Amino acid sequence: MKQSTLKTMGQQHGRRSWAEPWKIKMVEPITMTTQEQRKKAMAEAGYNTFLLRSEDVYIDLLTDSGTSAMSDRQWAGMLLGDEAYAGSRNFYHFEEAVKTYYGYPYMVPTHQGRGAEHLISQALIKPGDTIPGNMYFTTTRLHQELAGGTFVDVIIDEAHDPSSLHPFKGNVDLEKLEALINRVGTDNIPYVSLAGTVNMAGGQPVSMANVRALRELCDLYGIRIYLDATRMVENAFFIQEQEEGYADKPIAAILKEFCSYTDGAWMSSKKDHLVNIGGWLAVNDHDLFDTLRNMVVVYEGLHTYGGMAGRDMEALAIGISECVKDDHVRSRVEQVRYLGDLLVNWDIPIVQPVGGHAIFLDAKRFYSHLPQDQFPAQTLSAELYIDSGVRGMERGIVSAGRDPKTGDHRHPALELTRLAIPRRVYTQAHMDVVAEAVKAAHDSREQVRGLKMVYEPKLLRFFQARFEPMA
Ligand SMILES: Cc1ncc(COP(=O)(O)O)c(C=O)c1O
Repeated sequence: MKQSTLKTMGQQHGRRSWAEPWKIKMVEPITMTTQEQRKKAMAEAGYNTFLLRSEDVYIDLLTDSGTSAMSDRQWAGMLLGDEAYAGSRNFYHFEEAVKTYYGYPYMVPTHQGRGAEHLISQALIKPGDTIPGNMYFTTTRLHQELAGGTFVDVIIDEAHDPSSLHPFKGNVDLEKLEALINRVGTDNIPYVSLAGTVNMAGGQPVSMANVRALRELCDLYGIRIYLDATRMVENAFFIQEQEEGYADKPIAAILKEFCSYTDGAWMSSKKDHLVNIGGWLAVNDHDLFDTLRNMVVVYEGLHTYGGMAGRDMEALAIGISECVKDDHVRSRVEQVRYLGDLLVNWDIPIVQPVGGHAIFLDAKRFYSHLPQDQFPAQTLSAELYIDSGVRGMERGIVSAGRDPKTGDHRHPALELTRLAIPRRVYTQAHMDVVAEAVKAAHDSREQVRGLKMVYEPKLLRFFQARFEPMA
């Protein structure tokens, strides 16, 4: 009798298969370019994947931000846009959704996450302040610095080790935080900047036990906690899967409990919320809300639109209710994991455990012959694109920028190339193509030379810097 050797995804893991909780009703064609075309496009883009034209990209894993596919209900909501300057009905739907699912009573809309980061930083940080957090994020830290503050990393050490299998690598190290409080004093700490999941650590989650303990510690010292909730729904999935006592709780309940330990949150809705644009800042404190509501009209737009059209707010309100559904979150995170499992199985160095929104290739181990000053992660993103048309991005020394005091490059422990997976956009076949592309880049790693930076913008340099291959 014929021996069956081919296995479905589920069978490979000894379980029944499951599939995405949607079917596709509209498609956007994508085309493959030739390697000659890609070499030319990459050189014209200064070896920076942010500077490529999207038409020159085959599978676009630059970011999961604003790249989700909206549902038919969200598109229907777009037609219900109330474009009144003030008091749009869509704003009230949106406000209600934030209250229902996140629990904060007061909310101001912003055009995207960094608009909210700007407002909270300007409202709460005074020059000379210290802001502790569980690893920096590029725009978050820059807004804290522009307000006169200094960010201090208090994440657990395991977060800086790409091979540590700690299930909650996003956790705050409470001893580091307490030592910092004792060193700089509570008056100089406006709040703890907590992110769930932690993007720069590889999409790593924070446990419920950790945020609960953080709340207790902060209560002891009278310090507030503000949450970067951008990918908190994915964080809730890891709590449900990994933390004792949460297996039977729905994602929505876990999300709300987590937020209840914080004083407010800012949000880039372009991620979890399945929309192409939008954000918000929500708080428990009415006086602070008053300040923010006044500031938003200066920087974003009236407090009932904050830089968004009415139709955007309707799609966002619907996106919030869709993104907390358990089957959606599972298929989203498991798709990322599918790609990660292939790469781990092939001994390709990536950050483990695989996080919520992306695979992070460990460029230090990938190109062990390249020093960090030759930008290994930038080099890897360029090589991957040239080989296969797959676009990722650098998350290493370029993204870390320069120390504002010394002017020197910061040298982060993690030198990563990120392949972020847009939500509800690509199929398992696309993931197979990406996995093979990474393998091809890995197989030819020894011949690769590094890059030198030839143009460096002052702020958030990773977006616009230009490079040339080393001679
Ligand atoms: C964790 C995190 N916080 C904040 C932001 C900033 O949001 P936006 O890009 O909407 O300005 C991002 C965006 O990439 C992010 O990943």
